[in-house]
Amino acid sequence: MTPRRLALGPLVLVGVGRRSPFREYAVAAMAERAGLVLMDIHEPAWPKPFIRSFHLITEPGPEPMLATGRAAISAERAAGIATYDDRYTVPVARLAAEAGLPGSGLAAAIACKDKWETRQRLASRALGAVRASLVTSAAEAVAAARDIGLPVVLKPRALAASKGVVRVDDSDDVARGFAIAAAASVPDPVFSAPGVLVEECVDGAEFSVDSVICQGQVTPVFVARKLLGPRPFFEEVGHFDTAMGRGHTCAMQVCHFIGVALTAAPRPAPRFLRQMQASTSLRTA
Ligand SMILES: Nc1ncnc2c1ncn2[C@@H]1O[C@H](COP(=O)(O)OP(=O)(O)OP(=O)(O)O)[C@@H](O)[C@H]1O
Ligand SMILES: [Mg+2]
Repeated sequence: MTPRRLALGPLVLVGVGRRSPFREYAVAAMAERAGLVLMDIHEPAWPKPFIRSFHLITEPGPEPMLATGRAAISAERAAGIATYDDRYTVPVARLAAEAGLPGSGLAAAIACKDKWETRQRLASRALGAVRASLVTSAAEAVAAARDIGLPVVLKPRALAASKGVVRVDDSDDVARGFAIAAAASVPDPVFSAPGVLVEECVDGAEFSVDSVICQGQVTPVFVARKLLGPRPFFEEVGHFDTAMGRGHTCAMQVCHFIGVALTAAPRPAPRFLRQMQASTSLRTA
């Protein structure tokens, strides 16, 4: 089937990464459909053939990034702004909302990025609520673990890729787990939220759902069972394809309860996908 060509205006793309083989396919696909305006914390090397202009984020932190974004959107008369770098999802949503460009909306971006917000939203809908507390000290973590019951999982409130996520089986190790979660960080963070989550440890197979989100409708395109590295950490070391079975049904329920509309049937995967973060990685008991 010939891909449908979209006539898009300039698209500001934020943060493409230094290693070309990792994401070049996605940038090339976007460049076929829109004039790409790159915005990044370093001068581009490999993306050069795919972009029409570049804006440098000269200083770390959220404010310089937002200021560069506002200037880029205005100077380029941008029709959209996007990122595939997890660090930038919230500020990109903010910039899109400010400029009246299409996007998920700031509240939705925060609901995916801030794990405490995610937990509260799920709990308020009574869907598979995992017991969780937000703590700011080792002593609070110990108290929360006692309340929830061991084993628990401690994790930073707004990081990704399982950074600083640790399982604790013994009450003597809770303070050390808190220290690991509290110390985890990413280079050049642009969104942060204070605190560490202490959660009930949920057992069972874990499924990831990759989805395309378009005009408020979420279309899951594939479901995969996640393979983890050794305990006590949760490093993702692989994914197995699964049929669209039980994991798929469960993931659709989660999407529904966090407030997104779902289309009925999965479609063939397009050339690039937007992963629905945080909200669609789940476990079934
Ligand atoms: N309460 C829990 N019980 C069991 N395992 C958990 C729990 N919370 C997290 N995990 C494990 O840790 C992994 C990482 O946790 P989580 O998805 O919350 O954070 P992240 O991947 O760092 O962030 P994001 O999903 O926003 O990119 C999960 O995929 C899962 O394997
Ligand atoms: Mg995750």
